[in-house]
Amino acid sequence: MNSLQSFLAVAPVAAKPASSASASVSGARVAPSTSRRGRISACLAAEAPPPPTSGAGARKPRRELSAASLAVIEDEARYLVGTYNRSRVVIDGGRGCKLYDLDGHEYLDMASGIAVTALGHGDPDFHATICQQSGTLVHASNVQYTLPQVELAKRLVHSCFADRAFFCNSGTEANEAAIKFSRKYQLVANPDSDAPPFEFLAFDNCFHGRTMGSVALTSKSQYREPFAPVMPGGNFVEYGNLEEAKKVIQSGRLAAVFVEPVQGEGGIHSATQEFLQGLREACDEAGTLLVFDEIFVYNLL
Ligand SMILES: Cc1ncc(COP(=O)(O)O)c(C=O)c1O
Repeated sequence: MNSLQSFLAVAPVAAKPASSASASVSGARVAPSTSRRGRISACLAAEAPPPPTSGAGARKPRRELSAASLAVIEDEARYLVGTYNRSRVVIDGGRGCKLYDLDGHEYLDMASGIAVTALGHGDPDFHATICQQSGTLVHASNVQYTLPQVELAKRLVHSCFADRAFFCNSGTEANEAAIKFSRKYQLVANPDSDAPPFEFLAFDNCFHGRTMGSVALTSKSQYREPFAPVMPGGNFVEYGNLEEAKKVIQSGRLAAVFVEPVQGEGGIHSATQEFLQGLREACDEAGTLLVFDEIFVYNLL
């Protein structure tokens, strides 16, 4: 079960007014019948085990969906590249920690957009802030200065260990940047070397994103193998195994170690303080950078 499938249906609620539901699907054309079987999918065709027929894992009968929901599902299959294995739920809105589907069912949002909507849905302050900014300035490129960008960087620096901030659009871009910063750091730190350390260490079950550098540091082979050859220099050891990690760090081949203080995609696993402090010390001794990928950390605080 993936995190999206962990939505917990708490109670059906009265169907929304017709205007709201129909507004969401207005213009949605009913696609020509497109079966999942015939769909060109970018996913690996992994063989699934047979579903259990009884006991706790037995699959519940599929819930009937309205024609409006089915139309969205059919259009998705017709018009989007099939990279995601979705639950058969068409989300239409949310309020706080609740989500509502097109058919009027209410859900507790246990996934928060996979850990990125921690403020919940429809928060009035969040909404007002976005409205106010979009009425003032929508975007300015990085070749000019803007006040909010500098103010946010100042707040981040004053509230954490970092000396400076780097802004980007996604987690995987943050890791790409960290890969590039690490390689450049080693070039500058080793000016007399013909071969500055360029490899990386990451950990079993880790996930660092879907761009080419980040997949090279993501342990599960299904994220890397379809796109081989990925960036060279990735090494993996067991999460939490400080002795194995130290051996690789002490080899002197590493530009940086990438670690999630809390793993999310690989199951919810927290690192121990001893493990993280041990990595810090081993990296400092070897001149290796230590990168914390903290995407899941703040959602568990
Ligand atoms: C630990 C970690 N790093 C990186 C990413 C990639 O973030 P994004 O999907 O914003 O590129 C994720 C996404 O779930 C993640 O969990």
